[in-house]
Amino acid sequence: MAWETILSIKKGIKQLCKDQPDMDVPGQYIHQRKKSKPGSDAYAVNISFNNKPVKNSKFDVNVYSTEPFKCKISYSRRVSLINRNLFNLYLPYSILPFYAAKNKKIYVITHFAQTLDGRIASASGDSKWIGNQENLIHAHRMRALLDGILVGSKTIQSDNPLLSVRHVSGDDPKKIVVGGDHLDIQNYQISENEFVSFSQGINKNADNFILNKEGGIYDTSKILKTLYNLGLRTLYIEGGSFTTSNFLSQNRIDQIQVHFAPIILGSGVTGFNFGDAQHLKEAVYFNSFRYLPLGNQMMFIGEI
Ligand SMILES: NC(=O)c1ccc[n+]([C@@H]2O[C@H](COP(=O)([O-])OP(=O)(O)OC[C@H]3O[C@@H](n4cnc5c(N)ncnc54)[C@H](OP(=O)(O)O)[C@@H]3O)[C@@H](O)[C@H]2O)c1
Repeated sequence: MAWETILSIKKGIKQLCKDQPDMDVPGQYIHQRKKSKPGSDAYAVNISFNNKPVKNSKFDVNVYSTEPFKCKISYSRRVSLINRNLFNLYLPYSILPFYAAKNKKIYVITHFAQTLDGRIASASGDSKWIGNQENLIHAHRMRALLDGILVGSKTIQSDNPLLSVRHVSGDDPKKIVVGGDHLDIQNYQISENEFVSFSQGINKNADNFILNKEGGIYDTSKILKTLYNLGLRTLYIEGGSFTTSNFLSQNRIDQIQVHFAPIILGSGVTGFNFGDAQHLKEAVYFNSFRYLPLGNQMMFIGEI
């Protein structure tokens, strides 16, 4: 199945980067050497990085990746539209560890499901569920493909999330919580398994990191440096507003995914909330972006 192929490419590339930490692009990664039999569920995929575009008929899928998040993908065998959509959307994340190794950084992707008026929760904190079922599955695919999932303490309190992969196959990412100095985290589902905690308190079941705050705020580059040292190369931030806005205003986010639900709340928590922009030129602009259908709704994906 295409999804299993995407997952195993992620594992393969992570291992390759571990085995050859000084590996540099251009490079090539081959997933299965020979074209698979017609009707087979397996895919032979040839990925070249920043090299000559490959189109080799020995492979079912040929990928030419020039930079993080950017791939040209061609198909030498009949691949159903549903599987092409999976490859086109998720293969770039699967090969992101290659660029993380090259650029020695964690790639940070954030995701919100929001109303048409930009709310991610009602005033009382209710957000289940603003997005549709396809958005839930998408978020779980992203969790399975990235190394870590991070949320703020208020999201733990409002949503009590498990942060696991349940709607698709794949391994759970490392779970990370920021804040909650005075929160009794034992009361929340997150503490049922191991997680990483950035707070001033010590939590059972957690790898605790106590960083200094400046003006009451953590420098998000220190959070990312700690996670990099733990071996993480890709991170998914799933909110809430305060947490994501700090990463964004400190220029730590590489890609934003926003799912738009056809609802207007009129009040509530806004997804992004920072700064004091007086002019449009102070806005966050994107280097590239696209809108994708998500069931009968829509998702924005943009690289900063
Ligand atoms: N629709 C969606 O996609 C979606 C997704 C996620 C969450 N939500 C909703 O969002 C709401 C929560 O958002 P929120 O903005 O109120 O809270 P939040 O971002 O979830 O958590 C904020 C808390 O996290 C800690 N924190 C995070 N980053 C920090 C930093 N750089 N420096 C210092 N502390 C930091 C602080 O904890 P302490 O104060 O404890 O130190 C802060 O008060 C909930 O209602 C939830 O349902 C919606």
